[in-house]
Amino acid sequence: MALSPRARQAVFVKSAPTPATFPPEGAPEIAFAGRSNVGKSSLINALTGFDGLARTSRTPGRTQLLNWFRVVPPSGPELAFVDLPGYGFAKVARDLRAAWQPLVEKFVTDRAVLKLVVVILDIRRGAEQEEEDLLEWLDSIDKPAQIVLTKADKVPKSKRFPAVAAARRELRLDRDPICFSAETGEGAAELWRAIASSV
Ligand code: GTP
Ligand code: MG
Repeated sequence: MALSPRARQAVFVKSAPTPATFPPEGAPEIAFAGRSNVGKSSLINALTGFDGLARTSRTPGRTQLLNWFRVVPPSGPELAFVDLPGYGFAKVARDLRAAWQPLVEKFVTDRAVLKLVVVILDIRRGAEQEEEDLLEWLDSIDKPAQIVLTKADKVPKSKRFPAVAAARRELRLDRDPICFSAETGEGAAELWRAIASSV
């Protein structure tokens, strides 16, 4: 990971369980969304280069709150990263799942400082109905999205191109998604560039 760009600073700000507890709007925000256990928190840690910044877990569905981080990127002014709770995990209690959607919807819809939603997919699993729905909805409210295929270290290089092409086709993207690995740092430079051009 030696060549991966890293954040100059990254600190946890707060967790918010309800819209009333969201921090006041300040720096431009980048949100990270995806299925439970897909690797959202690991991606935030690997991208910033600050291990343990976002809590990761082998148990899916652990992050049930919105978590804010103040991040000073490799270049340019300060940002806020927002780690969103994962969706689509059946073992999370029904009432928690019912709470997820209004909370995330409210955040994405109302937050004027939200510049980009990074939608994270497992490269081995690809896009499913949830991702199609999420992207369609983001598009309908004019919120830019960047698709990332993570856990790229889990597939041989020969399988990257077919995975990228399939995601691009299934999600009707006009650009290739970014392949990323929290293990190797692959894709970090490309994702920082996408973030920089969104703000
Ligand atoms: P929730 O917050 O529970 O929705 O999960 P999450 O999406 O934040 O996933 P998290 O970052 O906690 O990672 C889940 C598991 O996947 C952990 O065991 C990570 O070590 C593993 N993981 C995440 N990213 C990668 C990756 O790029 N490569 C590999 N090999 N494992 C990864
Ligand atoms: Mg998480």
